Amino acid sequence: MPTSAKPQDRDTGASDPGYAKLKSDTLPWYTEDVEGILTPKARKIFEEYSDIPPDQVIPHIQANRKKLWDTRAYPCTGLYIYLIPWVTKHSAWSTILSHLKSKSDPKVLDVGVYVAHDLRALHFSGVPQSALCGIDLLPFWETGYELYKDEGRFDAKYIIGDILDFEEESEQARAFDGKMDVVWSSAVIHQFPWAQQVLALKRLVKFAKKGSGSLVAGAMVGSPQRSGDARMGELSKGQFKGEEAFRHNVESMTRLWAEVEKEVGVELDVDVKWRTWEDYGADEKRCGFFGEEMGVLEFTVVVT
Ligand SMILES: C[S@@+](CC[C@H](N)C(=O)[O-])C[C@H]1O[C@@H](n2cnc3c(N)ncnc32)[C@H](O)[C@@H]1O
Repeated sequence: MPTSAKPQDRDTGASDPGYAKLKSDTLPWYTEDVEGILTPKARKIFEEYSDIPPDQVIPHIQANRKKLWDTRAYPCTGLYIYLIPWVTKHSAWSTILSHLKSKSDPKVLDVGVYVAHDLRALHFSGVPQSALCGIDLLPFWETGYELYKDEGRFDAKYIIGDILDFEEESEQARAFDGKMDVVWSSAVIHQFPWAQQVLALKRLVKFAKKGSGSLVAGAMVGSPQRSGDARMGELSKGQFKGEEAFRHNVESMTRLWAEVEKEVGVELDVDVKWRTWEDYGADEKRCGFFGEEMGVLEFTVVVT
């Protein structure tokens, strides 16, 4: 990692998407509306776990989001989608929990861990903190402690790492390769073109423990119909001019995993599902900029 006074300022090159570096409030994936996505359950966490007075919850979330947005302008940040932990909405949620709870020393890795909202959700559902691991290009988890006001009470093993890095001696390889009962990654794979998606999924499989039915699961923006360019240039009204990511439907995501299976030489039992925005706690109006009839594509893979 290049040295920098603040890790947040480090140059992450092409490993994270150009559209997240635009940082403009005029992007169509920016809203001030927190209430439209903050469920009573999510609010309760801020009031009871984080001990924030009810009338301070919204301003606190907005001030914290400013820090996140000033670092990277992701759609999930601009639309406050991260307030709903996607792992709890995934079809394999109960399987993920029971798999982890069946182990004496479980390990789960969140790739693109961000503020670690999904790791907290796992913990609130009974997964011990000793199980929790996270990787991200940038240490967003520090802003996560400020968001949830739980530094000293909540911890996970965090490593700054790149999902496209296959270096055998890297910190992430030494700490996590072949050790994870569950590998989780949401809203990350969809930022890449096809060839990098193959690499990223191969990297997820590399983290998984082999021979014990480990799970690799995740979710991303996807369509029930079309597959192809994500059209982020058009959707950002010309503000993004870089290489387009590949947006999947069930058929193309299944084909992507078939390519990965051939390359990793490990048997993968793959299930891909399309779900609505409502299933994932958002609504079509909030997420409409992604284009008509989009939603969330899930994958659940058992690694044998
Ligand atoms: C859109 S956010 C999604 C965060 C979270 N997983 C969620 O579902 O809300 C993407 C996250 O992935 C991280 N990320 C992007 N590219 C990455 C890469 N090449 N390797 C590791 N993390 C990456 C970003 O820094 C960011 O925290």
